[in-house]
Amino acid sequence: MDDMIQIDNLTKVYRAFKGAKEVRALDQISFAASRGEFIGIMGPSGSGKTTLLNILSGVDTSTSGEVIIEGQSIARLKKDKLALFRRQRIGYIFQDFNLLDSLTLKENIALPLILDHVAPQQINSRVDELMQFFGIADIAGKYPYHVSGGQKQRTAAARALVTEPAVVFADEPTGNLDSKSASDIMDMLTEMNERKNSTILMVTHDAFAASYCKRIIFIKDGQISVQIQRAGDRKAFFDKILEILSVMRGDAQ
Ligand SMILES: Nc1ncnc2c1ncn2[C@@H]1O[C@H](COP(=O)(O)OP(=O)(O)OP(=O)(O)O)[C@@H](O)[C@H]1O
Ligand SMILES: [Mg+2]
Repeated sequence: MDDMIQIDNLTKVYRAFKGAKEVRALDQISFAASRGEFIGIMGPSGSGKTTLLNILSGVDTSTSGEVIIEGQSIARLKKDKLALFRRQRIGYIFQDFNLLDSLTLKENIALPLILDHVAPQQINSRVDELMQFFGIADIAGKYPYHVSGGQKQRTAAARALVTEPAVVFADEPTGNLDSKSASDIMDMLTEMNERKNSTILMVTHDAFAASYCKRIIFIKDGQISVQIQRAGDRKAFFDKILEILSVMRGDAQ
C-alpha cells in the first residue's frame, strides 16, 4: 500500500517541571495513513491529540518512535530542510490559529506562497479565490485582533490550504464555528481530499465534523482505543460515532 504517513511506536513523555509530574502524552502509538485518506482523531481532552499532530508535523519532537511522511523520516530532517518540507508539503490548521498579528488576514494567507517566491499575480488569484470561498474577502485588509474567532479560524484554514499541501493536519478546525461555517470548512477539506487527493488528519470533538472522515481513530491516555471505518453514508457514520463516544464516556465514569 502507498503509505503517506507511517507512525511506529510513537511515544512522548513531557518531563516533570516545577512541581508538575511527568506526563506520558503518547504511549507507543502505531498506525499508517495511505495517500488520500481522510482520518479523524477523537478522544477526551488531554488524551494526546494535539501532541500527536505536533509531532507528525515537526512542530515538536517525540521521546521515541518514528514518523515517516512520504518516505521521509521527520526527525532526521535538518532544521532548514524540515522548514521547507513543512511549508511545501504540509498544511497545519492550529487549535489556536497561530496567525501573525502584524499581518493582515490576506497577508497571513499569502505568507507560505510569498516565502516560496510564487509570482505575485498567482498569489493574488489563489488567495482571493480562497478568501471568497471562506467568506472573508471583505475583511482581507483587517488584522487578526480585529476579527472574530470564527473569522480567524477561516483565515487559518485558508492559509493551511493555499499551497495545496499533500498532507493536511487540522486541530479542531470547526471548534469555534457556527454550524454553517463548520460545514463550509468540512466541505473545503472534503474537496481537497477528493480533488487533490490530499491526505488529511483532523482532530475533532465534534461528531458532525468527524462524520466527513473515512476513518476515525479514537485515542485515550495516549493509546489507540478503537478505530472505525466509514462504510455507508455520512448519517450512518455520524450515528456510529455518537454511539462510540457515549460508550467511551460511560467507560470514564
Ligand atoms: N508542553 C507541555 N508540557 C507538559 N505537558 C504537556 C504539554 N503539552 C501537553 N501536555 C500534557 O500532555 C497531555 C496531552 O495533551 P494534548 O494537548 O496533546 O491533549 P489533547 O488531546 O489535544 O487535549 P484537548 O482536547 O484539550 O486539546 C495532557 O495531559 C497535557 O496536560
Ligand atoms: Mg488539543
